[in-house]
Amino acid sequence: MTNLHGAGCVVTGVAGFVGSHLAERLVNIGCRVVGVDDFSSGREENIRSLKDSDRFALHSLSVRENGLIERLCDLHGNLQFCFHLAAIVSVPYSMSHPDETMDINFRATGALIRDAHRMGFKRFVFAGSAAEYGNDRRLPLREDYADGQTVHLSPYGRAKYLASTETAASPLGVALRFFNIYGPRQDPGSPYSGVISRFVDMAIERKPLTIFGDGLQTRDFIYVSDVVEAYLAAAGLSMSTRIPPAGIYNVGTGQAVTIRQLADTIMNLAQYSEPVRFLPERPGDIRHSLADVHAFETAAGWRAQVPLSSGLRQTLLWAKESGT
Ligand code: UD1
Repeated sequence: MTNLHGAGCVVTGVAGFVGSHLAERLVNIGCRVVGVDDFSSGREENIRSLKDSDRFALHSLSVRENGLIERLCDLHGNLQFCFHLAAIVSVPYSMSHPDETMDINFRATGALIRDAHRMGFKRFVFAGSAAEYGNDRRLPLREDYADGQTVHLSPYGRAKYLASTETAASPLGVALRFFNIYGPRQDPGSPYSGVISRFVDMAIERKPLTIFGDGLQTRDFIYVSDVVEAYLAAAGLSMSTRIPPAGIYNVGTGQAVTIRQLADTIMNLAQYSEPVRFLPERPGDIRHSLADVHAFETAAGWRAQVPLSSGLRQTLLWAKESGT
């Protein structure tokens, strides 16, 4: 493991749901964090606590900015790690803006990784997605299932696939393919927000939970602190894991949960028992999604630690406290 004291990290998308948790953890273990966000979906309030730290600096910039990495190195000296999370995160938006999505989610990633290589970075960790598998029905999903034949369901999935592939072709690149991430700071604000953020919000508001379809569809839900630990492991910044070779790795729990079970668990934890409302299936929804988690476990010794019930409890607590 790298000596952490003062290790310099760039985190793009730092004001986002996951980026803000990652930056907090990096600062807490003694790293310097240079955060980048254009606030297109990131929120100031997510990084409020970070702003007080002398190990944190923020740049309100787009990742499309020319020579971004070089400029950050000029300003902040020795930077060695880049965690690239900034992206267009809305799948529906990607459908109506395919060129912009390709540009930000794919092309900008290629430019950043080449610059990071030239500037002598040790690691570049990219935020990939289960959407890279399209509607592949071979479960659990193994990293090599996403290939040139995969039919992606959105420009979002396609751009993430291309960017992961390009990342893994670099000697410093690790692409992590995240399954369904949940936890504090996930925004429940749109019909396309993550199901857990929506269910938690509905349960607190004492509104009936809405299930699209029969509720027997399944997902692999991973808690945000497990995701943060996966980032540290990928960069070789974790005490409890090994540095994995460059490549693409799934990050999930390897456990499938039905949406119906999820609704029941959340209602139980929130002590709320209104009948759920069944609505028509969402067009384009995939039926099942489940990660094969062996590759990252073998390469890094990482595995998810937080049981769904604990993660949900934390998320409910946060949502109640923050009044979200
Ligand atoms: C995720 C993306 C989605 C993308 C897909 C591609 C998020 C939040 N969504 O969808 O944009 O197209 O990966 O792989 O990252 N559900 C309900 N009730 C609700 C909300 C959702 O029943 O109020 C259901 C959905 O219909 C779905 C399941 O819950 O079957 C999970 O939904 P969601 O959290 O949006 O995740 P994905 O479907 O995996």
